[in-house]
Amino acid sequence: MAKITKAVIPAAGLGTRFLPATKAVPKEMIPIVDIPTIQYIIEEAAASGITDLLIITSRTKKAIEDHFDKSYELETELEKSGKTEVLKQLKDIRSMVNVQYVRQAEPKGLGHAIYCAKSFVGNDPFAVLLGDDVVYNAEKPCLKQMIEMYEKYNASILGVQSVPESEVSKYGIVSGEQVADRMWKVNDMVEKPKREEAPTNVAVLGRYIITPEIFTHLENTKPGAGGEIQLTDALKTLAKEQEMYAYDFIGRRYDVGNKMGFLEATVEYALRRDDLGAEFMEYLKGIVK
Ligand code: UTP
Repeated sequence: MAKITKAVIPAAGLGTRFLPATKAVPKEMIPIVDIPTIQYIIEEAAASGITDLLIITSRTKKAIEDHFDKSYELETELEKSGKTEVLKQLKDIRSMVNVQYVRQAEPKGLGHAIYCAKSFVGNDPFAVLLGDDVVYNAEKPCLKQMIEMYEKYNASILGVQSVPESEVSKYGIVSGEQVADRMWKVNDMVEKPKREEAPTNVAVLGRYIITPEIFTHLENTKPGAGGEIQLTDALKTLAKEQEMYAYDFIGRRYDVGNKMGFLEATVEYALRRDDLGAEFMEYLKGIVK
């Protein structure tokens, strides 16, 4: 069985839910405390055994490439002034994994963004981590849990969690039968269903392990919900041809492309920090009083 070493992070979306901030700043670069969102995601990938990463970007996302590139001026300056701790942090970012980029010329949907990774992926199964979904699990990263499930089932694995019924219309929803603890065999999928039409409340949340046959299905996928080429539609037809599983991952997930999700992430990540947590908690207690 092929090992999962490659991952794709689609980050070419317009980020309209986070305007005006995302007009000139990629939403993936908006920091949770002082670390850009996409860096948390890359750290999760690296901690899960990913060695090669492709980020799908667009014309307005240059800051992402700059963030993971060497900054000679800054590093020389930090070295001169003896700021070794922050210098090390900057160097660590670069050495985490090998990152490449490809541009999606037009935001034609998540399915189309993934199709841009075809030649990078080649013939092996690969991971997908969405650029605006952050999952916190200090013991075992979400993607690592999924890779272990892939190694057990040797099939595509969708990362899912149950969402409130009022929110099913925001997600790709799966139906199937439960085959083990936290594990479903997928029979069908639907992208952003109306509440009354959703088969379940089990939602796909930004993490996938996908077999390379997906590319043939993406080629044949017509624009779906919202006029975009939907990854869900291609996964749905792939599931008719191969076994596919949905794994209820363990971890606190934040939709940071959404303002409320971003605020929750900011507060909770700040509270977890050794250098800020205690002081920030005192501050919060003071304003809640
Ligand atoms: P979203 O729908 O959450 O992102 O896409 P968006 O379009 O950027 O945001 P809103 O809804 O306008 O606020 C899920 C993921 O797919 C990527 C996004 O960058 C995000 O990581 N995506 C989406 C692409 O890379 N290309 C696309 O054409 C669409």
